[in-house]
Amino acid sequence: MSDVSLQAARRRTFAIISHPDAGKTTLTEKLLLFGGAIQMAGSVKGRKAARHATSDWMALEKERGISVTSSVMQFPYEGRIVNLLDTPGHADFGEDTYRVLTAVDSALMVIDVAKGVEERTIKLMEVCRLRDTPIMTFINKLDREGKDPIELLDEVETVLGIQCAPITWPIGMGKRLKGVVHLVTGEVHLYEQGRNFTRQDSTIFASVDDPALEARIGGQMLAELKDELELVEGASHPFDLGKYLAGELTPVFFGSAVNNFGVQLLLDFFVDHAPAPKPRETTTREVGATETKLSGFVFKIQANMDPQHRDRVAFMRICSGRFSAGMKAFHVRSGKDMKLANALTFMASDREIAEDAWPGDVIGIHNHGTISIGDTFTEGEKISFTGIPNFAPELFRRARLRDPLKLKQLQKGLAQLSEEGATQFFKPLMSNDLILGAVGVLQFDVVAYRLKDEYGVEATFEPVNVATARWIRCDDEKTLEQFRDKNAMNLSLDAAGELVYLAPTRVNLQLAQERAPEVGFLATREHA
Ligand code: G4P
Repeated sequence: MSDVSLQAARRRTFAIISHPDAGKTTLTEKLLLFGGAIQMAGSVKGRKAARHATSDWMALEKERGISVTSSVMQFPYEGRIVNLLDTPGHADFGEDTYRVLTAVDSALMVIDVAKGVEERTIKLMEVCRLRDTPIMTFINKLDREGKDPIELLDEVETVLGIQCAPITWPIGMGKRLKGVVHLVTGEVHLYEQGRNFTRQDSTIFASVDDPALEARIGGQMLAELKDELELVEGASHPFDLGKYLAGELTPVFFGSAVNNFGVQLLLDFFVDHAPAPKPRETTTREVGATETKLSGFVFKIQANMDPQHRDRVAFMRICSGRFSAGMKAFHVRSGKDMKLANALTFMASDREIAEDAWPGDVIGIHNHGTISIGDTFTEGEKISFTGIPNFAPELFRRARLRDPLKLKQLQKGLAQLSEEGATQFFKPLMSNDLILGAVGVLQFDVVAYRLKDEYGVEATFEPVNVATARWIRCDDEKTLEQFRDKNAMNLSLDAAGELVYLAPTRVNLQLAQERAPEVGFLATREHA
């Protein structure tokens, strides 16, 4: 096997999807703990706090109880390399989450045992379904009273339309929680308060028939458990690897993230069964992960990650081949070679300079505005990865500056923050307005906050008469020129200099389209 095949086969790249508060952050911490980053225990929350100290806009995040930024964490486990791509939780930041989900090979769904399937999980699941992403499920907070486990599985099956194959099964719940049974190995793992629940630290019985078990959990509980297991066997689906990989069936685990209970069983099963990097579609052909030439796409851009360096980092998912430090790569959209100097990897929460990276890994490329979300890098081949969603803004506001002398700073800030993809920035041809488009209203608050914090500009956002935006496409120069002249009042340039029609009403848009049938009006800026 080639180096690329070997390295690709070791990779497991995934994201956690859940409704806010289900326990994603807590579970992430525990997974990092098993990844050997013991010193990182509490790091995810610690990181939140550290950022809060350096950057004021995190106060906004805290105030709203949301996580605005997302990051990448890499850790080794049992000979595998696990890449966990964090997703922001709040609904207004959905686009970012959707794009992260295009960069993973599988997902882990966390469900609160008391709340069951919640609204945000349903939405995220729809996105996973678009690409048949394989999904594992962790039912969390077993140390609290919750819904009946069989009913919960039924809920997942009917609401989310995916078959459930329980891999672990709870023995009691809340105050009566005694442990879990592993339905594949037959082992019983006891829950004892205060334990750490690594394999070394747990009490494990070989099966429910172990005579010593009865003494530990009591005869009545054991009898109930055996009855229930019989019922579960009849009522649920057996694990089927093919169905899991096709996104039709989800293996289900029960546990308590905060107590680290049931987490290692999940992780063990995950690294053994979750898919390694898969082939990916491009505009012209499918690219296999084990191909020796480097290819990858940018799924996320984050401005000012490090306030001291004011840098913008483009996150690239490697799809094939090998990245090595300092190499040049072909930036397909511009048709130019780019030196990927000082690319970053994301071992746990520290940023490090990448020496090598392989399919499934994510590297961070320093970027001065030339890289956009959706861009493909190769070693020269002109292909573009497809399926990275771009979202049309639905809300528009005009930026108003407190101090008119800061106009340049404002323009720079709006343009740079828009590169992240959550907002879009427009400059009308015929006025000096600066217009911002967003999918959710919260983004205007975030941009205002970050403009102040990161660019020293105080701006507010006020309503503007724009209902919708369309990107203009026209191959014929003369037609385009005529269109431009006739419609100048409604035309703007976006941050990348592309022509956009900002329509005050839907009716106006329709009329404009009817009058210029040879001109294309696209709902999103194309990434291809
Ligand atoms: P999120 O990232 O999905 O939003 O959830 P997060 O991990 O922040 O967890 C949300 C809350 O649920 C936290 O409590 C967390 O401690 C709690 N939690 C997570 N896993 C478990 C579990 O297995 N059992 C129980 N009982 N609680 C759990 P919080 O009060 O909001 O925060 P904190 O003050 O405890 O940190």
